[in-house]
Order: sequence, then structure tokens, then C-alpha cells
Amino acid sequence: MSKISVIGAGNVGATCVNAIAHMKFVSELVLLDIKEGVAEGKALDMMQTANLYQFNTRITGVTNDYSATEGSDVVIITSGVPRKPGMTREELIGVNAGIVNSVVENVLKHSPEAILIMIANPMDTMTYLTHKTSKLPKNRIIGMGGILDSSRFMCYLSKALNVPASDVHGMVIGGHGDTTMIPLLRFANYKGIPVTDLLDKEAAEKVAADTMVGGATLTKLLGTSAWYAPGAAGAVLAKAIIMDEKKVMPCCAYLDGEYGQKDICIGVPVVLGKNGIEKVVELDLNNEEKELFEKSAAAVRKTNNVLHDMKLI
Ligand code: LAC
Repeated sequence: MSKISVIGAGNVGATCVNAIAHMKFVSELVLLDIKEGVAEGKALDMMQTANLYQFNTRITGVTNDYSATEGSDVVIITSGVPRKPGMTREELIGVNAGIVNSVVENVLKHSPEAILIMIANPMDTMTYLTHKTSKLPKNRIIGMGGILDSSRFMCYLSKALNVPASDVHGMVIGGHGDTTMIPLLRFANYKGIPVTDLLDKEAAEKVAADTMVGGATLTKLLGTSAWYAPGAAGAVLAKAIIMDEKKVMPCCAYLDGEYGQKDICIGVPVVLGKNGIEKVVELDLNNEEKELFEKSAAAVRKTNNVLHDMKLI
């Protein structure tokens, strides 16, 4: 018996619940929102697909009733306002920090042992804020960004190579921001063949550039933040924890000396299992990659400093 709660029944939260139900690895799912009726409605709509998709997960929707989330193994936090076209993720900090703080407090009252997955933006800073305010052990707070950015990277790689996305491997580390993420072209491969052997420099650099603005491109097209890939990425992360998969995935993790960084939450490969982040994997970065990582960390730190300025930490 396992239970996941998703806080926020907007596009990302609802898509995440739907993806988890289809992946059939959890018995109970709770969707919570502050807007009267929305979570109940979306949960009921999804339950009406249970026979069609042949899943047995029970999905319950509630309005602000945190007691329904009691005893969750994993809680996914998607609450907050999404970005509008032209906005950076960082601009959301003022509004979303207050929302995230109150959500985390309520969640932990009912599920003191839960592992928290942060999706709310600016995600690296919201993950850091939660570390500071909740004082939970570092393995239990994980930011979802790297899995999404890597999936976008693999999508653009598969298009450039004209091969299936499922045969491509690639990882994005660093911050989850348009200028802070680092698509690691040197580590990416198609069936074990380095993509740098298959794509010319210009094509490879275009893939990296498209990946970095992957979210912004969608915000421009949709008028709001994307949800299919963010929701699915949250579900894949939750599955790795619930199923104790020990898979290596890039996630936003608290660093305490790894990659030469301390007191920051930023995207790095981690081993995911039943204890959340079970290990930070240190890649052998070359000088150029190291420099990009340092620049990315400096930018994330700058956004984190807004939390100090706002006296939130
Ligand atoms: C994105 C948002 C969820 O990248 O950060 O689409």
C-alpha cells in the first residue's frame, strides 16, 4: 500500500496525477487544491477512466482538506502561479514562496515522514526555501527540473538525429532556468554512440539552445506554463521513489560539498530510491562544464538571496 498526494490541481498537478494512475504503481492518490470543487471534479473525471485504462488506483480530490493527505509516502507540490509569456521562472518568487511555505507546513502536519517533490517555480529556489524552513533531512526534499529538462533534451536530440526518443540518452544539470541549465552534450548518446559523433557542432549546439528555452517556447505558444512533460516528469520521479528503483536521474538536490558547492539546491544526477535522494553522483566534468556549473550555481544563489531580502529565511 502506497500513497501519493499532489498539491495543486492546475494543469501540472492534474496531469501528474493522471500520469501516476496510468503508470499503475500506487494504490492511493490524493489531489488537493484551494479552489472549491476543482480537485474533486478532476479526480472524479480521472476515476471515470479507471475501467477504460484498467487502473485500480483510487483517486480522491479535496478542497484544502489536508487531513485527506494523511500518511502520504510522497507529496508532490505544484502549487503557485505559473509563468506568463515573457516572464522568467525567477520572477514568480515573491508570490510562490509564501504559498509553498504554507503548503509545506500543512503537508508535514499530516505526513511527517513524507518525501517532498517540489515542482513550483522558481523550482531550485523553492526547493532551497523548503530545506531552510522545514529542516527536513536533505534526502527528503527533491526538486523536479532535471528530469523534465533532460526529457526535452532527448526530444530535440531525437528530432535532430531522426531516431526514436526512447533510444536516446542525455542529461541536463544545473539550474532549471532558461540561462542556467546545462545540457551535457558530451555525455549524450544514441544506442551508446556519442551524439557528438553523429551531429555537427552547429546542430548539436542548436539542440542545446532549444533545450534551454524548452519551457519558454511552450509558454509563448500556450500563454501559460507547459504541463504534459512537467506532470509526466513528476510521476517518473515519484515512481523511482515508491518502487525503490535506485535509478540515476538529474534532480535538484541540496549540495554539501559535492561539485564544489555548499548550501544550495541545484540539478545534479542522484540515485533515487525509497529514501529519496540516496546519493549524489559526481560526474567527471571537464573545465568548460565545470565553469558552466559554477556560473549556473551563482545565478541560482542570486535568486536564493531574494529569500533573504524578503526575510523568508
Ligand atoms: C517548465 C516549467 C514547469 O519548464 O518550469 O515547463
